[in-house]
Amino acid sequence: MFDLLVKGGTLPDGTVSDIAIRGDRIVATGRVEGAAREVIDATGDLVSPPFVDPHFHMDATLSYGIPRVNGSGTLLEGIALWGELRELASVEDMVARALTYCDWAASMGLLAIRSHVDTTPDHLRTVEAMLEVRRRVAGYIDLQLVAFPQDGLYRSRTGRENLIRALDMGLDVVGGIPHFERTMADGAESLRDLCRMAADRGLRVDVHCDESDDPMSRHVETLAAEVTRHGLGARAAGSHLTSMHSMDNYYVSKLLPLIAESGMTAIPNPLINITIQGRHDSFPKRRGLTRVKEMQAHGITVGWGQDCVMDPWYSLGTADMLDVAFMGLHVAQMTHPEEMARCFRMVTEDNAKIMALEGYGLGKGCIASLVVLDAGNPTEAIRLRPERLAVVSKGKIVSRRARNDAQLALPGRPEAVRRRIEGR
Ligand code: FE2
Repeated sequence: MFDLLVKGGTLPDGTVSDIAIRGDRIVATGRVEGAAREVIDATGDLVSPPFVDPHFHMDATLSYGIPRVNGSGTLLEGIALWGELRELASVEDMVARALTYCDWAASMGLLAIRSHVDTTPDHLRTVEAMLEVRRRVAGYIDLQLVAFPQDGLYRSRTGRENLIRALDMGLDVVGGIPHFERTMADGAESLRDLCRMAADRGLRVDVHCDESDDPMSRHVETLAAEVTRHGLGARAAGSHLTSMHSMDNYYVSKLLPLIAESGMTAIPNPLINITIQGRHDSFPKRRGLTRVKEMQAHGITVGWGQDCVMDPWYSLGTADMLDVAFMGLHVAQMTHPEEMARCFRMVTEDNAKIMALEGYGLGKGCIASLVVLDAGNPTEAIRLRPERLAVVSKGKIVSRRARNDAQLALPGRPEAVRRRIEGR
């Protein structure tokens, strides 16, 4: 007797397969016979491993307008605004907002999130709050927490000390922001310091790196070199890397092999990068997204991150990684069928690889987490960003939703037409 049987779904690679679950594990796939306590009929629907977001800020989420909105829309005003907000927000406020966000995420099939946590303020209420959230959602969302010195490891007087305190409190990943340090030299030194810290503690490192339009920003080069020096490989990630958009092509031809050699991964965040970068340009305005296809062509693992939802930097967002993939696909011009399918893999498999999630996938023995989408294949899922008909986390159904077709009543067109082309 199985606990749950997902019948007849189409997997992202096009295979049609049942998925049988016992406890929190997938115990059989293919054509499965046998009874189950509960059955989900997924015939004609896409069944995918859960969505994964490797870059988010959960201490700031759902705070839009508190204490006011970001008038200029720039990264720097966002940082200043957040500096005010983090002094106003209580632990309870941040926990409540983050839990609401995690409800949204669960309903969207987003079941693993890496969140940066600001370790700048001496009170570290941000850290206290996010540790509480990690504990509260552990049954359905895997939350990785990054110790993130938002105001600079060195630029803030107690930046380094507080980052170490936060790691000692139990945060999982070492973070940084070299382009926000006072000088390029300080930024480079912060990277040496942070990578050494990660290596000594056996932790991962994920740095906000070169998130600017400055074509001369060179921190990713230093990050790659330090990752190579310490052998951190895929335990290291560079987030944003937007300056690469503006860099000289000759320099990039040297840089990409260095990044590939290091084995580090990259996390562009298309929703936020397309709105925040290029704000100082007149025309033409740069897009500010890093070189995604070019990095992939060098064998570098690149995921899509969401970064922000309704906070000082970004006023929209729904916890839907398909929105992120949709925007990324457009801005990076990933329109070939292979590239569109790749965009779906980026918000599932590639992001899971970046976060090193154990037991991720739909094979026998994997952790029984999955999402059933009202779409026939991954590209259609990106096109429609459809209903998540069912979300299963660690063997339990955590969200169900009905199909949401328009009921048409058109003269001469008696039958309602589904938006979907594939599948049913
Ligand atoms: Fe970020």
